[in-house]
Amino acid sequence: MWFPQYRPRRLRQSENLRRMIRETRLSPDMFIYPLFVRAGRGIRQAVPSMPGVFQFSPDTVADEAREAGDLGIPAVILFGLPQRKDERGSEAYASHGVVQEAVRAIKDRCPDLVVITDVCLCEYTSHGHCGVLRGREVDNDATLEILARIAVSHAQAGADMVAPSDMMDGRIGAIRQKLDEGGFTHTAIMAYSAKYCSAFYGPFREAAESAPQFGDRRSYQMDPPNAREALREIQLDLHEGADIIMVKPALAYLDIIRRVRDEFDWPVAAYNVSGEYAMIKAAAANGWLDEQRVMMEVLTAIHRAGADLIITYFAKDAARLLSSS
Ligand code: PBG
Repeated sequence: MWFPQYRPRRLRQSENLRRMIRETRLSPDMFIYPLFVRAGRGIRQAVPSMPGVFQFSPDTVADEAREAGDLGIPAVILFGLPQRKDERGSEAYASHGVVQEAVRAIKDRCPDLVVITDVCLCEYTSHGHCGVLRGREVDNDATLEILARIAVSHAQAGADMVAPSDMMDGRIGAIRQKLDEGGFTHTAIMAYSAKYCSAFYGPFREAAESAPQFGDRRSYQMDPPNAREALREIQLDLHEGADIIMVKPALAYLDIIRRVRDEFDWPVAAYNVSGEYAMIKAAAANGWLDEQRVMMEVLTAIHRAGADLIITYFAKDAARLLSSS
């Protein structure tokens, strides 16, 4: 059936008709809300490059998590800024470290909220790399042990899920093994499987104070032109025990999200990263874009591409908008 019998505009005539044939629907169920936690008390400090995003202390973060939960968001993901950084990032696995305390505070206040923790060394090392160094190189296998120790410390504090973002080879297996040995067989792993070496992480590194002090992350994060390699990374992580696989960033990698969704029957998450958030905020502040519409268009696109879960700084705003429409 072709024009003039078929007229696609027939089903676009009213909002109710459009609602009926809409193929993709967003829901707060799919959002994961990122939170930055730093050592101290009573902190709620704005991140300049990410308007609307704050650094909290363990005592204030539970209120923010609670607010997200009340808006229907099922999960938060925590990033920590320690008191002191060192060569080996040892505060990352301290039993009273900042993330561990934040997990306890949130679980105390909102026991049903799913608490996910980012597992990485870059916020905790003096050099800002995601692993320990041997000379000027990141030592893969020596880092695995530390990552597993961090994951266990998060599980001990009560985290439901750990999310390694370091991109070392073999980390999922190392973490799964140590979690299981520690009795944490129920703690899930969301693997940052296809994490690209992206300039879109710029604002996050300000928020998390985690920029590398020399060099860059090209020797461990993925090269942006590669798509087939992402599928191999995902295969590896699933083989090692990942429960949820992730593509990151989201917007410049929608093709990867789609391919991963088509190839694997596992839950797929996508990270709508800091730069993607900051671009929209900056353009909107200049009056160049309609923030709410662009936000919803972008989140819809990520979901339409195949992401079941979206990690996004817009989670609260989008959830609010969804409940009012
Ligand atoms: C830590 C980590 C990063 C992000 C999440 N975990 C930064 C990086 O790899 O440099 C980026 C998140 C964002 O940009 O919103 N390894």
